[in-house]
Amino acid sequence: MKISVLVTGGAGYIGSHTCIALAEAGFTPIILDNYGNSSPKVMERLARITGQAAPLAIEGDVRDRALLDRLFAEHEIGAVIHFAGLKAVGDSVADPLSYYDNNVYGSLVLAAAMRSAGVRTLIFSSSATVYGEPDESPIPEDAPTRPANPYGRSKLMVEEAYGDLGRSEPGWRIALLRYFNPVGAHESGLIGEHPQGKPNNLMPFVSQVAVGQRPHLTVHGGDYPTPDGTGVRDYVHVMDLAEGHVAALRHALAHEGLLTLNLGTGRGGSVLDVVAAFERACGKSVPRVIGPRRPGDVPAYWADPSAAKAVLGWEARRSLDQMCADSWRWQSGNPNGY
Ligand code: NAD
Ligand code: WQD
Repeated sequence: MKISVLVTGGAGYIGSHTCIALAEAGFTPIILDNYGNSSPKVMERLARITGQAAPLAIEGDVRDRALLDRLFAEHEIGAVIHFAGLKAVGDSVADPLSYYDNNVYGSLVLAAAMRSAGVRTLIFSSSATVYGEPDESPIPEDAPTRPANPYGRSKLMVEEAYGDLGRSEPGWRIALLRYFNPVGAHESGLIGEHPQGKPNNLMPFVSQVAVGQRPHLTVHGGDYPTPDGTGVRDYVHVMDLAEGHVAALRHALAHEGLLTLNLGTGRGGSVLDVVAAFERACGKSVPRVIGPRRPGDVPAYWADPSAAKAVLGWEARRSLDQMCADSWRWQSGNPNGY
């Protein structure tokens, strides 16, 4: 029998791509999303991509305990993948309470509802941001955690709460996945990332410049101690990430206990590497100007992804060129999102 997986935030960027990987792996995703940063229109796209019925989608909030209790009572849910949350670092500095409310309180309400329902398999979206400014790269999972903003602290708080929960009683199967920089889109070009307003992140900004919606990219700093002077990150294709969730889910279903894993490629790419790869993908030049450093930015970091490979048998397969080609297919086909 197919196992149903509750996917909170499943209409969002990483969640929607993971729903495809879940469906292709024989799971049945059930989405819970408040559409605060997404659109229900993604469901029809998911159906087109998978050739299966659109996932069941419930509009609602992870902080709504009564709704969660109803969901667990009405559906036979075997596991939960918890993406729902807010993710803009700058907003978290301006409005920390909404970050602690959505990300921390929401995660606690969800875990309490799972415990009552007897569902104890949980995959959680954490972030490399929990490492803050690392001492060295590649970053292994046992590197010190010292997040530098409320968003990062909200992720670390949830990691700690879920860790304590996992250790408090037998039966829990919890994977805390620390994503590096997810980019790209499904290769169909039918789903992708569509930030509201001016993008904070590099790849959506470059895409919007390439499609003509913005005049140029401002490179935040050209004088870092990196090979070309620009910031270096571990960009990982969102479909590799999606497949990493399926691998983590399979592992959790088969093994009790707590896992903390990096999901990244193990390779660093600079801002100018991304721009060059994007230019190859779209066949145009991407105008850019070098501006000052962005406050709070770390010069360079990338993952040590060896634990995910050893434990899950998962590793990222897609190249930076493929990430840019897929982003471009999505952006050029859907310049205004869904
Ligand atoms: P996203 O905003 O596209 O997706 C989050 C989804 O959750 C959205 O559909 C939103 O409407 C929904 N949501 C938010 N709060 C909710 C609530 N209280 N109840 C119900 N639904 C709610 O973001 P994403 O990039 O897909 O990120 C997914 C998760 O991965 C987040 O937890 C994020 O912090 C984490 N993460 C993202 C990145 C990244 O760079 N994109 C990196 C590391 C970790
Ligand atoms: C990447 C590089 C910028 C925009 C953020 C969050 C992190 C995680 C992933 C959720 C940096 C440079 C960017 C631009 C630029 N999210 N840049 N011009 O900062 O590594 O990580 O997203 O967990 O928590 O902090 O990603 O895409 O913003 O920046 O030069 O217009 O691109 O300086 O070197 P970042 P990013």
